[in-house]
Amino acid sequence: MEKRGCKIANKPEENKTLPLETMLDVSDNELAALLETDIHDSILFESADRVRRRIYGTDVYIRGLIEFTNYCKNNCYYCGIRCGNTVLPRYRLSPQEIMTCCVTGYNLGFRTFVLQGGEDDYYSDEIMCRIISEIKTAYPDCAVTLSIGERAYKSYKAFFEAGADRYLLRHETADDEHYRLLHPESMSLQNRKECLRNLKDIGFQAGSGFMVGSPFQKTEHLVKDIRFLQELEPEMIGIGPFITHSDTPFRDYKNGSLELTLRLIAVLRLMFPYALIPATTALGSIDPNGRELGLKAGANVVMPNLSPVSVRKQYSLYDNKICTGEEAAECKVCLQKRVELSGYQIVVSRGDVRK
Ligand code: 5AD
Ligand code: FES
Repeated sequence: MEKRGCKIANKPEENKTLPLETMLDVSDNELAALLETDIHDSILFESADRVRRRIYGTDVYIRGLIEFTNYCKNNCYYCGIRCGNTVLPRYRLSPQEIMTCCVTGYNLGFRTFVLQGGEDDYYSDEIMCRIISEIKTAYPDCAVTLSIGERAYKSYKAFFEAGADRYLLRHETADDEHYRLLHPESMSLQNRKECLRNLKDIGFQAGSGFMVGSPFQKTEHLVKDIRFLQELEPEMIGIGPFITHSDTPFRDYKNGSLELTLRLIAVLRLMFPYALIPATTALGSIDPNGRELGLKAGANVVMPNLSPVSVRKQYSLYDNKICTGEEAAECKVCLQKRVELSGYQIVVSRGDVRK
């Protein structure tokens, strides 16, 4: 690919070495070519880091992840907490247990709590709303993020009115056929997209994203994923490598690659300069240095675990997940060191998107 300037990295003297004229009007073919070669990687990562520094400086936001239920009514073929996994012991945290996680988190400097779980109808709209408003009443300076899958418009609306600020719902793949290969008949990409539109419509800061290297994924799917994100304009974009789970139908498939995930983080940073992009736990799980490399490739968020250690191993999305034996405080200290050694620093802030 011809070396051209990058309008996003707006300073003329910086443009000379960048591989693309602009990531905004790059064609599908150019994007595919860029994803399939490593020759641009160092320039991509440098450009992404420069864009990130211009908007977010060296700040890294922390989100306290509370994995409050591993019950799930869905049966996604890739996911370890799918309902078809009968060997996994299931747990639910009570509202009081969730609150205890928040207290610990707040004292450690967290100002965003992410309530993540499988699709578990035990947590009715009413119970969820009570949990949300309890957290917001105790910590009005904090953001509450939900990551509990697909629900009705009116449920989302109720959560928003109870005080939830943000919602994470990865689309997983923007290609219908590929979506079919990753999910059972009962789920559809159309429904997923509608949920995302509803969340935006209601006023949530929305996050979406996809797995990198999931079974049957082709470059053209990744291009579609990026195009879908451009349409959606999410505030947050979460991507991580697919990692096999031994008790799922995808037990024999290969893990996604570190390199491609990093390349995608950089491309996403260039295309979505303002987005909040986490260096995910999955990235840290396929490579001991994965999260640090993610930060250097343009990520600006990390999500340490605040769940009680007693349940950590049971929130088993994939094999060999890191941080399952560490207390919240240990994870925070560990990540703080990792972030600082990478040249950035963790800030005590809600870390809302800058516009
Ligand atoms: N490998 C990597 N990521 C996974 N997720 C679920 N299962 C796996 C897996 N086997 C991701 C999905 C989901 C998020 C919570 O975790 O993208 O949206
Ligand atoms: Fe959890 Fe390092 S972040 S132990």
